[in-house]
Amino acid sequence: NKKAFIFDLDGVIVDTAKYHYLAWQKIAGALGIEFTPEHNEELKGVSRVRSLDIILNLGKINATQEDKDRWLVQKNEDYLGYLVHMDENEILPGVLPVLQYLKDQGQAIALGSASKNARPILEKVNIISYFDAIVDGNDVTNAKPDPEVFVQAARLLSIDAEKAIVFEDSVAGIQAANIANMTSIGIGEESILHEAQYLFPDFTHIETDFLDMLIKR
Ligand code: G6P
Ligand code: MG
Repeated sequence: NKKAFIFDLDGVIVDTAKYHYLAWQKIAGALGIEFTPEHNEELKGVSRVRSLDIILNLGKINATQEDKDRWLVQKNEDYLGYLVHMDENEILPGVLPVLQYLKDQGQAIALGSASKNARPILEKVNIISYFDAIVDGNDVTNAKPDPEVFVQAARLLSIDAEKAIVFEDSVAGIQAANIANMTSIGIGEESILHEAQYLFPDFTHIETDFLDMLIKR
């Protein structure tokens, strides 16, 4: 009864979603674009390049590739600046016990993230050893809601999509899991993640009984 448990990174394992938002806000602000937390929901799970396009669209701004490249570099530099002091304390509540329980049960664990910074972040917070496979923004060509990142993760673990379970905080990520025929578990608010098959406000609400049910079925 081996299942593949696939975790998104930003906003699921670590609270980096707030840093992405701050870094994007700086770019948007400089361009005079209003960029609210509601707009930000659309950026969650979405690649860096696509995120910039969404922001420029909000401001109806036509930019050259040169400008875009510069803003992308700037955004990432700002973002990395926020991560300098990152350590285990930034792992979101309840995540470690769930990872440990799944590991103890012999389950397969993977990361499925759109971020190109995923590996250094996992190293910083010292949990890279939990992961049997890592698929990130450097490995995929199609961003969520395309299921490529999760499909690739399940394939690396040699586990069928129907036996994969995805933890996600983004609308795009939940859609990707659903499209791939995987079990989707939303971490966040019902008003945003209503397409998720299961929903929890955070990992402290995920009990071992629930994990056992996922493993056994
Ligand atoms: C995740 C985040 C997005 C971010 C994307 C790319 O999916 O939810 O907000 O834009 O990864 O991350 P990167 O670290 O490569 O800029
Ligand atoms: Mg996320």
